[in-house]
Amino acid sequence: GLKIAVIGGGSSYTPELIDGLIKGQHELPVKEVWLVDVEEGKEKLAIIGRLAQRMVYKAGAPITIHWTLDRQAALKDAAFVITQFRVGGLAARIKDETIPLKYDVIGQETNGPGGLFKALRTIPVILDICEEMEVLCPEAWLINFTNPAGIVTEAVLRHSRINKVIGLCNGPISISRGIAMALNVEPARVRIDFAGLNHMSYGLKTTLDGEDISRRVIAMLAGRGEDGQTIRQLTGVEWVPEFVEALGVIPCGYHRYYYQPRTMLAAMKREAAQTGTRAEVVKRLEDELFALYQDSNLNVKPKQLEGRGGAYYSEAAVQLMRSIYTDKRDIQVVNTRNQGAIAGIPDESAVEVSCVITREGPRPLVMGELPVAVRGLVQQIKSFERVTVDAAVSGDYRTALLAMVINPLVPSDAVAKQILDELLEAHRAYLPRF
Ligand code: NAD
Ligand code: G6P
Ligand code: MN
Repeated sequence: GLKIAVIGGGSSYTPELIDGLIKGQHELPVKEVWLVDVEEGKEKLAIIGRLAQRMVYKAGAPITIHWTLDRQAALKDAAFVITQFRVGGLAARIKDETIPLKYDVIGQETNGPGGLFKALRTIPVILDICEEMEVLCPEAWLINFTNPAGIVTEAVLRHSRINKVIGLCNGPISISRGIAMALNVEPARVRIDFAGLNHMSYGLKTTLDGEDISRRVIAMLAGRGEDGQTIRQLTGVEWVPEFVEALGVIPCGYHRYYYQPRTMLAAMKREAAQTGTRAEVVKRLEDELFALYQDSNLNVKPKQLEGRGGAYYSEAAVQLMRSIYTDKRDIQVVNTRNQGAIAGIPDESAVEVSCVITREGPRPLVMGELPVAVRGLVQQIKSFERVTVDAAVSGDYRTALLAMVINPLVPSDAVAKQILDELLEAHRAYLPRF
């Protein structure tokens, strides 16, 4: 049986992962799950550990659950290392989402200044984990969920000796599911070829039972489907119909920050004033979840967990590990080394792309040139990601400023400097290199 280490095990998402491992046990024989956290997350970790134990017991699954603050004990001989931690916790996310708003800039967990700072906090930690993996589990696959997942994968590819790394997001699988649901067909019949970057990938082509239905899906996305489907069912965003028709590819939910920045800024400011930012809403949901998790009668993942954005995340993780383990060679969308799959992006950079999943890892499908209308934005964001990685690794102020200025959501060098200075001060405790 396999040993799996989960770093950030105290996450309220973990019961979802355990549920996925239980359901997938016949194809992925997991023997041990080691949940790791840090001192700050100690109590959450124990609550999750006990719930996970009740879940496997109730399901009759032969999986033992361990929980510890000793990361090295957890990594030792692991076959898969799943990372899903949040350096500084939700308190840090609240700052990332709140401070930019003061300067009329979008405050978001993975985009703009918030995404930059989440990367600056996360990258030194992931690189430490990689160094430990080299010694303790050199054969293991690192499956990273920690956001910004694309930038974190870029950092691992360029600054560690770990080659077996895959960045994972639930976004593409959620879009495919949404489209299958809108078409009223089994999800397995729908295939979407995705290409781009994490939270910046586009569905280039959709097939149903192998037949190209891209035009029909775009029409549905534009709200013009004969099926009378609404736009929201597909990506949760209302686009100007003529815009998506001209775009001709499926955008993801995060594209709205780039194609609808004013609307999004106004909505975020309104939300911040009314309910608090998303992080504050999540904090309340998390408190509610942990109250439930503590109930010793609970032995399944509760419905309320669906209130989090990570729908299908365990499915993505489990099907990926399964296909590596069984050399299944099915197609899944992951963040991996480009290796020429997308023209105009460096070979060694991380891209989010449909891949054949083999025992040796993901093999990207060759996508060639992205449509001219989206190519520039994808390249610009890749530049931002690379400069962000350089800043995180060097701790250099000017490099961090450069990353901030070249981000399309930031209006000027002067505003960038103000936001940078305020966020550096706010996050000082979690930025040892600065
Ligand atoms: P969370 O705030 O609950 O954090 C998870 C755990 O990480 C906490 O228990 C915390 O104590 C712990 N932690 C903090 N620093 C750590 C460290 N250095 N080592 C080990 N553990 C540490 O976060 P969450 O909302 O459950 O999300 C977890 C992470 O997963 C975030 O980075 C989030 O952005 C990401 N996420 C990504 C996707 C995706 O699509 N890629 C989906 C869902 C969540
Ligand atoms: C989606 C994204 C994740 C992100 C999450 C936020 O699932 O793919 O990368 O972490 O939304 O959800 P939350 O409930 O934390 O706002
Ligand atoms: Mn994601």
